[in-house]
Amino acid sequence: SRFVADRLLLFGATGDLSKRMLIPSLCALDAEGLLDPGIEIIGTARSDMSDAEFRNFARESLEQFLPAERRGSMATFLNRLTYQALDASQTEGFDALAQKVGKTDHGLAIFLSTAPSLFEPTIEGLKACGLARDNTRIALEKPLGTDLASSREINDAVAGAFPEDRIFRIDHYLGKETVQNLLALRFANALFEPLWNASHVDHVQITVAETVGLESRVAYYDDSGALRDMVQNHMLQLLALVAMEPPVRYGATEVRDEKVKVLRSLRAVGPEEVVTGQYRSGAIAGKAVPGYDDELGKDSATETFVAIKAHLDCWRWKGVPFYLRTGKRLPNRTTEIVVQFKPVPHSIFSGRGAKTVPNRLVIGIQPSEDIQLSLMAKVPGLDRDGLRLRPVPLDIAMPEAFSGPQRRIAYERLLLDLIEGDQTLFVRRDEVEAQWDWIDKVRALWEEQGLEPKTYTAGSWGPSAAIALAERDGVTWHE
Ligand code: BG6
Repeated sequence: SRFVADRLLLFGATGDLSKRMLIPSLCALDAEGLLDPGIEIIGTARSDMSDAEFRNFARESLEQFLPAERRGSMATFLNRLTYQALDASQTEGFDALAQKVGKTDHGLAIFLSTAPSLFEPTIEGLKACGLARDNTRIALEKPLGTDLASSREINDAVAGAFPEDRIFRIDHYLGKETVQNLLALRFANALFEPLWNASHVDHVQITVAETVGLESRVAYYDDSGALRDMVQNHMLQLLALVAMEPPVRYGATEVRDEKVKVLRSLRAVGPEEVVTGQYRSGAIAGKAVPGYDDELGKDSATETFVAIKAHLDCWRWKGVPFYLRTGKRLPNRTTEIVVQFKPVPHSIFSGRGAKTVPNRLVIGIQPSEDIQLSLMAKVPGLDRDGLRLRPVPLDIAMPEAFSGPQRRIAYERLLLDLIEGDQTLFVRRDEVEAQWDWIDKVRALWEEQGLEPKTYTAGSWGPSAAIALAERDGVTWHE
């Protein structure tokens, strides 16, 4: 079903994601000539709004969230937009929506960016009004459930109206250029792959650190917590891309087949392998910030930080720990992957300055997009007591290697692929369920152990127990 949709129907069109990401992405695609000239974009949400008012909303969003040089002819783009108010929890409004969408010559792409409680009624409504056509595909934004059972419910409801090859589950990390570049790094170079296994890799670290706190998402975040908000989706996708076997080709089935194998090989974590935390007041970049409970206005047992030592029970990674950590109010915004190689089998150098440090590959996802390989080198000089050694970085600054390209919004790639029907960068049902299956076990363990988040000061790297989690194994978190 590789049709190119000529209608895009956006649920939650007046929401935060739409404003900050989706509308700017669509305009950027249009400015680059990537949207079919005939495409119409229909926004829908609860508020009453005319087409003109919606276009105004969109214009403001572009002025705020898309750099001027990327906007192209805003007027052309804005003219593609129309609006239809709809309360998706009620069946009545859907017929009017179907009328607004009208006949699609090629196909319809639907994007659900609403509260997940609206997924099921929306799908029912789409079915009833005839918009779930043979040439309709649907994208779902997170959260896809809060555990395996609820995610199955959503998946079943969607499957009642659309076949899997027309369901596009979003994990916006897959839309990031640097995340896709992981595949290029691994599979377009012969250099790393022979070493990419338990014989040569000591451990892997994946860090997704944020400086922001609760932001304005009080209800959602406090129900969710870091494990479900970040680990279940983004971090497990990063882990899957780092750990997977080479797919036979770069295609939706082949890539996702390999990712799901990794996710299924995740071993249930033990009590000593997970640490959770919640931030207290502190300072970030010299600015005082309140604690989580102050922001929330009440006590809460929700974790804003989690560190996990994960294992994959498979041939390639047997015995190689994957240390994962993510948190809010950490010292800086950094997403990176560290592949720590094993030490040399035997050092021929002796002497005080001749200690070898194992090689380490650091892949910057954001904001730094550098790839750094640390190599041992001789310190220049005529030392009498033997060679001195020091690690030096072999450094690729990606933005400089490709001078010019602007930073893209991850949704540009994803919206284009949705419209054109390429599922490679979307999450398949079996993946999402394997992710939840493992997460549910982590949460069951917390409950069993009565685990409460440990406190950490905003602006620190999480509770000291998270540092101990790695240090017990002689591992230092990369900073
Ligand atoms: C979202 C989470 O999925 O990802 C947020 O719900 C988080 O809590 C965000 O801040 C991080 O995305 P990015 O692209 O800024 O790393």
